[in-house]
Amino acid sequence: MENLRYHIQLPMTDPHQLAQDEAYFFLNLNGEKKTVRFHDYADLYTYKGLYEQLFYERLKCASPKKVTSILKKSIDHSKGVFSELRVLDVGAGNGIMGEELFNEGVARVVGVDILEEAHKALLRDRAGIYDEYYVMDLTAISEQQKSLLQQWQFNCMTCVAALGFGDIPTQAFINAFNVIEIGGWIAINIKETFLDKTDNSGFSLLIKEMIVNQVIDIYHLEKYRHRISIDGRPLFYYALVARKEQDWNWIL
Ligand SMILES: C[S@@+](CC[C@H](N)C(=O)[O-])C[C@H]1O[C@@H](n2cnc3c(N)ncnc32)[C@H](O)[C@@H]1O
Repeated sequence: MENLRYHIQLPMTDPHQLAQDEAYFFLNLNGEKKTVRFHDYADLYTYKGLYEQLFYERLKCASPKKVTSILKKSIDHSKGVFSELRVLDVGAGNGIMGEELFNEGVARVVGVDILEEAHKALLRDRAGIYDEYYVMDLTAISEQQKSLLQQWQFNCMTCVAALGFGDIPTQAFINAFNVIEIGGWIAINIKETFLDKTDNSGFSLLIKEMIVNQVIDIYHLEKYRHRISIDGRPLFYYALVARKEQDWNWIL
């Protein structure tokens, strides 16, 4: 991708006061200073290369590579064939995870995101990476959308840098999960507190319930540095690879 450079300025305020989803930066464009929140993806995707410059260059996000590498390892260990994966990439954004999977040679990769801006950015920045890209709100998919997704016969779902912190809600995750074939691979990352008793986010409960009810079988769980915060602190996440054993049919 062509390397556009932006003048990004991080705020002077004590960053410890800001939750991860409240963080923001200043974008200096043609002499004007614009405040952009980290989670205002529609805005971020509008500027070619800005998302990559902020999260991947400056804040050293390592997650697409990490999740892909442990997915590969898990499949190799179970004598599976990585190149046969038909992947649904949930919360695909402008396609960074899709590109990683594409470069590693999966059979199919299909992206889904709620934002039209994400799709536009994908077409602008990484056209040809996904076999198909759907703009849909996964929290509320219709029967028609569900059978459209099922036609791809996905045997893998990825969801990177998109769970918790006000991104993909649990229902969206469940709806996508239920589209994946039994025995399919689930490869995600999730914030480090998700195994703590104190974590009362929906995901903490959902993943724990999935494990104890044998909805998923964990193959690999690894704590790693997802990225750094705006004051340089490491932000640790878990990368998790599991195999789907059955659909999720419970109410949380
Ligand atoms: C931080 S981005 C991650 C993008 C990409 N996976 C990456 O690693 O760069 C999170 C994405 O989740 C998408 N998202 C949030 N809620 C969603 C929903 N209900 N259905 C589909 N996508 C959603 C957002 O639009 C955003 O593009």
